[in-house]
Amino acid sequence: METANPKRILLGVTGGIAAYKAAELVRTLIKQGFVVQVAMTQAATQFITPTTLQALSGHPVLINQWDAADSGMAHIASGRAADAIVIAPATADFIAKLAHGLADDLLSALCLARDCPLLVAPAMNVQMWSNPATQRNIAQLAADGVPLLGPASGDMACGETGMGRMLEVTELADGIVAHFQRKLLAGVNLLMTAGPTYEAIDAVRGITNRSSGKMGYAIAQAAHAMGAQVTLVSGPVALPAPAGVERVSVNSALEMADAVNRRAARADIFIGVAAVADYRPSAPSAQKIKKSDAALTVELVPNPDIIASLASLPNAPFCVGFAAESENLHEYAQAKRRAKRLPLLAANLAQTAIGADDNELILFDDDGEHLLPRADKPALARALLRHVAQLYRKGKPA
Ligand code: C5P
Repeated sequence: METANPKRILLGVTGGIAAYKAAELVRTLIKQGFVVQVAMTQAATQFITPTTLQALSGHPVLINQWDAADSGMAHIASGRAADAIVIAPATADFIAKLAHGLADDLLSALCLARDCPLLVAPAMNVQMWSNPATQRNIAQLAADGVPLLGPASGDMACGETGMGRMLEVTELADGIVAHFQRKLLAGVNLLMTAGPTYEAIDAVRGITNRSSGKMGYAIAQAAHAMGAQVTLVSGPVALPAPAGVERVSVNSALEMADAVNRRAARADIFIGVAAVADYRPSAPSAQKIKKSDAALTVELVPNPDIIASLASLPNAPFCVGFAAESENLHEYAQAKRRAKRLPLLAANLAQTAIGADDNELILFDDDGEHLLPRADKPALARALLRHVAQLYRKGKPA
């Protein structure tokens, strides 16, 4: 969260084995700038101690409805102070209570008395999840406008496998951040590239680069959270596709160009984050090249410039380029923006950006330069997209 007024989350922990993940969730949310107040059911205290959650959140944990220490109005006051209530994990039993408006303990009373959004992260055994009673309750929450975070499918603590697992902490945190994100890109079709490309020399060898894909994937995820429909054409990376983003996996620059060109007509905005190889071997061998004592020459031919050809189309999407330079950043970036006819170019120093978790960007547009100071890549992605959204909307007829 970049806001000066941090958002307040009331994290409700209910009694399931996934309650142990609540500790990490509190830490992650605080790291992202949220203020977190924890409330637990009695059952949850069997799985994780209030002491742990109190220490991590920095606030006394709310458990008992009849606690003499408060004014007896904790169920109203705590809910009112929150910008959102998040129930994680939410057991089948607690979901049933939410669906029916029961309020027989502090946490369920907080939920019933709230005047802020409620987000629910179910966590239960696969049979409990698929039980018609649970499905009825889930449908009721949806009808009541309560967003669900998950569940996911996978191995469970009970030894079974299937639907009902709570999302991982990072996925929960992403969902919560997305909830608070202003939908600046609602209705926008965003096409983008990320990661390196791989240019085959023979059946097993190739030329690639050290792009990790982290910046591009962070942009894809942030754009989705801002309401965009995102298609991510990705070179080979070791990252999972961000939730809600359509990923098209490619290897070479030619494959990337083809995947982009097929989708260009539908795109409103194109962001080229991929480190596309400038050259490819002219005649890759279908078989592994055998070693010999003779020198080996591999002829390289230039790859098409994906973003430059897109930007020169008559109905070009709003094109945003990236430039990683190792020297003369300003001069090279400006020249690149002009040569590729890009309304916006984000530049950084290659030495500090590639593979790192944080970065610093300088944006070049018709109005000049704008520095996006050093931040982790998700925060930087959000800052970049706010700038993109502003320029894109300015250029659109109302
Ligand atoms: O020319 P350079 O590779 O530095 O330009 C970087 C920008 O151009 C990035 O946005 C990159 O994704 C894009 N690019 C491209 N196709 C290429 C080379 C670069 O789309 N063949």
